[in-house]
Amino acid sequence: MLKYIFTGFSPNTTFHDVSLAFGLLLRPWQWRTGPAVKRIETWFCEYFSVPHAIAFDSGRTALEYSLRALNVGKGDEVLVQAFTCVVVINAIRFVGATPVYVDIQSDYTMNPHDAEKKITEKTRCMIIQHTFGQSADLELLLNIAKNKSLSIIEDCAHALGGMYHNKLLGTFGDVAMFSFGSDKVISGVRGGLAITQNNDVGAALRSYQNILPKTNRWKIVQHLLHPIWFYCGRATYHLGIGKFALFLSKFFALANRILYPPEKEGDRVPWYPSQLSNALASLAFEQLPYLDDWNKERMNHARYYAENLLDKKNIIAFGSENTWLRFPVEIFERDQVMKRSKSFGIILGDWYTTVVAPADSNLKKALYESGTCPRAEMVCQRIINLPTDPYLRKEDLDRVIASLCI
Ligand SMILES: Cc1ncc(COP(=O)(O)O)c(C=O)c1O
Repeated sequence: MLKYIFTGFSPNTTFHDVSLAFGLLLRPWQWRTGPAVKRIETWFCEYFSVPHAIAFDSGRTALEYSLRALNVGKGDEVLVQAFTCVVVINAIRFVGATPVYVDIQSDYTMNPHDAEKKITEKTRCMIIQHTFGQSADLELLLNIAKNKSLSIIEDCAHALGGMYHNKLLGTFGDVAMFSFGSDKVISGVRGGLAITQNNDVGAALRSYQNILPKTNRWKIVQHLLHPIWFYCGRATYHLGIGKFALFLSKFFALANRILYPPEKEGDRVPWYPSQLSNALASLAFEQLPYLDDWNKERMNHARYYAENLLDKKNIIAFGSENTWLRFPVEIFERDQVMKRSKSFGIILGDWYTTVVAPADSNLKKALYESGTCPRAEMVCQRIINLPTDPYLRKEDLDRVIASLCI
């Protein structure tokens, strides 16, 4: 029986993460306090050569507090690309500002010309998202922001370790935020961090971090159970056991959720924002030494997909040198292809099938007006993301390609 290939489902979780999580579950005194948060912050300061790195419970919290640290608030407008995640929009709304949606260009990043058109006297900040790891058109965007005196936050949730003109993504704006979510480049199941060169912004972020509560203990347990459920669930999915185990973990709330239902409605959940726990920081920290090698593998996989898919009639894909967290392709009969691939044992990715994802997010509450970002709306109808995780073998990539091309 063929083993399943997953695009999501914590793709870079290994047995090492499982044993680490299991060990941490047995040492509750290390859940909330310990050296791991400081270690991660120091690692980021060194990797990016910046003086300030401040960790939070998630990327969404890092983004919200980055906006606050830049004094973005009530009455301000923030430029953000359509084709994003609802938690990005929530962060803008939680500080009292209004998201103004900018359309994307063919590489799924913010269209600088549309950005320029959407600037008003209320615009204060631009969030530049490096979607799937594809670097945004920084030269043009930075120019526009500079001319209009806008603050810049780089959203590097998908792009840790990526480059633009030989310089690390995350070092171009006033602040950059990263995510250690379960499907991200480096995973602590949940976690996030902001970096900045600016001493005032760094000090503000640190003081916000200091006054946040520690993470709820049950939430830490749920997140520590995640690698165990997902590693075992993935390995036995083809036997039906894994699917049942994952269903049970969800039904009995024995594993975390990436996104909670109130967040899709634009609301907060009671447990967050919080500080990053020592336990989840430990999981993420253990993966950091592999970052550059994993990104190289992801690039190799993406290159292989591009080489084998570029000339296919029904598929739009482009090759490039980015650290693709997922490799996006556009395909005209998307729903049939996803179904068919599933019957081949391949679960393709569905980031972003709506302009504000996931698909059941409340677009009204997210203040998206239909028709304002036509390209993003069109791409959402046909986007699929292919897995690029570092543990895929050539035969796995061939299986993915074959399932698309029948
Ligand atoms: C583009 C983007 N930015 C920010 C975030 C927030 O990251 P986190 O899940 O760590 O809160 C996400 C989450 O998936 C995302 O996709």
